[in-house]
Amino acid sequence: MHIAKVGIVGSGIMGTGIAEVAILSGFAVVLRSRREGSALATRAAIEKSVDRRVERGKLTADERDAALDRLVTTSALHDLAGCDLVIEAVVEDLATKRELFGELDHVCVDDALIATNTSTFSVTELAVQTRRPEQVCGLHFFNPAPVMRLVEVARPLTAADHTIEAATDFVRACGKDPVVVTDSTGFIVNALLFGYFGDAIRLHERGTATIADIDTAMQGGCNFPMGPFALLDLIGLDTAAAVFDALYAEHREPRLACPPILRRMVSAGMLGRKTGQGFYDHRR
Ligand code: 3HC
Repeated sequence: MHIAKVGIVGSGIMGTGIAEVAILSGFAVVLRSRREGSALATRAAIEKSVDRRVERGKLTADERDAALDRLVTTSALHDLAGCDLVIEAVVEDLATKRELFGELDHVCVDDALIATNTSTFSVTELAVQTRRPEQVCGLHFFNPAPVMRLVEVARPLTAADHTIEAATDFVRACGKDPVVVTDSTGFIVNALLFGYFGDAIRLHERGTATIADIDTAMQGGCNFPMGPFALLDLIGLDTAAAVFDALYAEHREPRLACPPILRRMVSAGMLGRKTGQGFYDHRR
């Protein structure tokens, strides 16, 4: 199947990043935000990010203009009607995603693929909200999407081979490295990463070291680009709590239970970089 036009639902960090990747890779993109105001703000954010590439000499001005011409932002779901592939990247909430999948099924043309960027929920559960479960899969991009090379292509029980092949081809066309993984909570990366996050929080709570020193240790000692606390702030603590909850619900391993401090920080609105405060203060 030929993918030329990509729809993206959700204009958070992930939807915006995926849209940037796709327009720079030559795809026409329709990015849908819930409100007209956020659709315009998202366009401005993508323009700024693409402008920075021109300033750094990674892109010519003509390439930037051509890429931005390929981007349409909208608040109307029916504008996704002509897309060959629609990627859902809305808030990590199962009820919201289930409802959206039902709506997308009615909006999208019959042979369109529908993918979810979920990192936590059953892709099979979302697939069966549609009348085309064989054309649904997971496309799990990592944050920040324009930088991170990996995309997990998650295969639900219901997916047809051609869906996984088309999704994998799309990932390669975006210049990313696909790995195909069975639909299972946490796929590969989060299934391994979140035990480490929980261990880091408990290490700090036991008084072993400060947050900053744990981060410095994992950067300098393992060559990780960021330590666990800086990475949690980048991911967003609300998203991280949702991932912990889903991993624990599925595997029931105490190590994967959401650390209580994380839940309280979420209640306090300390969500990490996006709100300016998390394990670090990003407002300075
Ligand atoms: N958008 C576009 N480009 C970005 C960017 C963004 N949000 N953030 C950084 N970049 C680019 C910079 O422009 C720069 O590009 P250049 O080398 O071409 O000039 C390059 O990335 C490096 O950026 P910086 O020099 O500003 O900063 P760093 O070298 O510290 O890199 C980082 C920042 C890329 C975020 C790096 O620290 C990193 O790779 N961190 C780890 C990120 C990670 O592990 N993400 C996975 C999270 S888990 C997840 O997403 C799963 C989910 O389901 C929970």
